[in-house]
Formats: sequence, C-alpha cells, structure tokens
Amino acid sequence: MNDRHRLPLEPIATPDRLLLGPGPSNAHPTVLAALARTPIGHLDPIYIELMGEVQELLRYAWQTDNRLTIPMSGTGSAAMEATLANTIEPGDKVLVAVKGYFGLRLVDMAQRYRAEVVTIERPWGEAFSLEELEAAMALHKPKILALVHAETSTGVCQPMEGIGDLCRQHDCLLLLDTVTSLGAVPVHLDAWGVDLAYSCSQKGLSCPPGLGPFTMGPRAEAKLAARSGKVPNWYLDVSLLNQYWGSNRVYHHTAPVNMNFGMREALRLLAEEGLEHAWARHRSNAERLWSGLERLGLELLVPQPLRLPTLTTVRIPEGVDGKAFSLHLLNRHGIEVGGGLGALAGSVWRIGLMGYNSRAENVDLLLNLLETELPAFQSGRTAVAVAAA
Ligand SMILES: Cc1ncc(COP(=O)(O)O)c(C=O)c1O
Repeated sequence: MNDRHRLPLEPIATPDRLLLGPGPSNAHPTVLAALARTPIGHLDPIYIELMGEVQELLRYAWQTDNRLTIPMSGTGSAAMEATLANTIEPGDKVLVAVKGYFGLRLVDMAQRYRAEVVTIERPWGEAFSLEELEAAMALHKPKILALVHAETSTGVCQPMEGIGDLCRQHDCLLLLDTVTSLGAVPVHLDAWGVDLAYSCSQKGLSCPPGLGPFTMGPRAEAKLAARSGKVPNWYLDVSLLNQYWGSNRVYHHTAPVNMNFGMREALRLLAEEGLEHAWARHRSNAERLWSGLERLGLELLVPQPLRLPTLTTVRIPEGVDGKAFSLHLLNRHGIEVGGGLGALAGSVWRIGLMGYNSRAENVDLLLNLLETELPAFQSGRTAVAVAAA
C-alpha cells in the first residue's frame, strides 16, 4: 500500500468570511441549507419537476421567454463557452467589443472555435456608444456581436439601448455576458433583443459557484439548427442537453442535483423579493458605498452614469500598498475585497455588493474600516501603527 499521499486531515473548518470582492459573494443561508439536503436521483420525478421550476425562474430573472434556458453544469465560463460553441461555425465573423478582462476571454474562446474574430476596444473603465458599435457593425458585418453587460474587471455597466435593433438590421446575433448583472442590475433580455446570454450562480443570485445559467433565443436556435457539422464540444452541446432539459428528459450527464437545489432556492428568494426590489436594493446600497468612499476622499474609476451597482472600482491612493491593506482586511476582519485585474492590476480595489451581501450594514462596516484603518497603510506608516492608534 502506498500511503505517501494519505494526508491525516482534520474535518474541514474554513472560516466564515464576508465576501465583498468580485465574486463569489456569500450565499444566502437558506441556499446553503438547500445545498445540504440529501441528494435525489437526477431522473427522479421530483427532481424533474424542480428542473422546470429552475428554468422558469431563470426566465423571470432574465426577463425572457426563451425556451432554451438552462443552468449549465459548470461555472459562468462554461455557460460563456456554450454560447460560442453552439453558434460559431469555422470562419464565422465574430465581433467582440472589448472594454475589460472578460471581453478578452470571449475573444480567446471564440478563436478556439475557429471564428474569424474582430475586436473594437475601449479603455478599461469606459463603455461603448451606439455609434461606435454601429460603425464597427457596418465595417465588419459580423454574424455575432459579443458584449459584456457588467464588466467585473472595471465596474462598468454597458448601456444597451439600440444594440438589439442594430444587430437585427445587420442580421447578426447579440451575445451578452450577464455574469455580474443577473438578479442584481436591470436586465431585459427580450426587450433588448439579446439572442444569447449567460451568467453565474455565485454573484447576484446568492448561491455558491458551480452553475452557469445559459439562454438562447429563437434566432440563435435557428443558427444552431442550420449548422453543417456537430457542435465541437460534447458536454456543452445544447441540442444534446435539451433532450434532458426539454420534454424528453433523456440522460446526458449526471446533473449536480444539490447545486440545482441551491439554485432553485436562490431563484425562489429572488422571485419572493421581486426583481425590481432586488435591483433597487443593489442600487441604493451601491450609492451608499459610492458617497461614503467619496466622503473619505477616495476616487472611483468609473463615472457615475456607467457605474455598476454590483462592483465598484476604487483607485488605490498614492503611497498605499493596496495588497497589504486587502490582506489586512482578510486576516484581521475576515473581509475579502478584490484587487485589480489585467490593465488595472495594482491600481484599484474591487468592491462587490452582490445578492445576499448587498446590505447597508456591510457597506457601513467596510467604510468604517477604510476610515479608521487605511491611514496606517500610507507609505511611511505601518499596519502596526493602526493597532496602536
Ligand atoms: C463578467 C464575467 N464574465 C465571466 C466570468 C467567468 O465566470 P466564472 O468565473 O464563474 O467561470 C466572470 C467571473 O467572475 C465575470 O465576472
């Protein structure tokens, strides 16, 4: 017997953290209770009924009537990949509007499915105007326009007015990343003319990571049906998955049943609160945070009209070791805030107020710590100084 890898571990004892970063956010306690239920079979009639409930509530959260709306097994990136894998045929032109890290991920994925990818870019912290998108569509005539609605790397919310109509004029599918907006920031997929969208479980929906909501409208379904070859990804092939999630209920893969228990509970809570209330709650807590940060003399990266209520990017003040301060928050107070990603690495903190965590007491707690403990992290002073203060 080889016992070299047999670690003598104690039962798991992770600390309780307050997750105020870019995600995951804390899960609602009743979602955690749902996750801990005894699993049932993934073809059990009770589970089959639950699947329908999850699909219907996802339609509500997204404001869509799309038949093909399912929680992909996997995280947001799996659902992101599913939107591309099912609709791209080699050589299809895909226009990606890149204004942050996740736009770049769309580019990478679309290239892997052998699309001819063209991009337009805005500096990180800005959004696209309709005119810019119009000009790029006229120039490139893509089959798919891919956009990130809520760019978690910058805290920018992309205005959506007119983009759906533009895509229809050009006979192009509109693909939207709603990972950091679903359940927290207004999203109206059908009214916006969005053909493909995806999200995650671990942010506005107050569930742990593990599922990637996916939806596909009739125009995207038609493109899938007209493919000349198979979808080049077996696991994410929606035509196969729909035999399980549609009326046939044919086995595809063993569904992560407990994750879907959690998702059902998360979506039930959202429906109980009501979308408009959830959106208003996120907005008012974000505004409380923004005004508090500005009162403390901190500078926000994104101009007010484009700010995302779920994710705020704050410039790290000159002379402050941003990483040391966020480590201090984690180690001393059990609070996680995020650092900058890509082009913003080292220059911003990212503060998330998502789902269950979008609450005034969390905002006040963080503002209070910034006020009392950040000054010690200005250069020339040390964390020890704050302990003494
Ligand atoms: C905007 C955006 N898109 C996609 C993803 C990828 O999702 P996941 O990390 O759940 O795979 C994230 C993750 O945070 C995101 O913020």
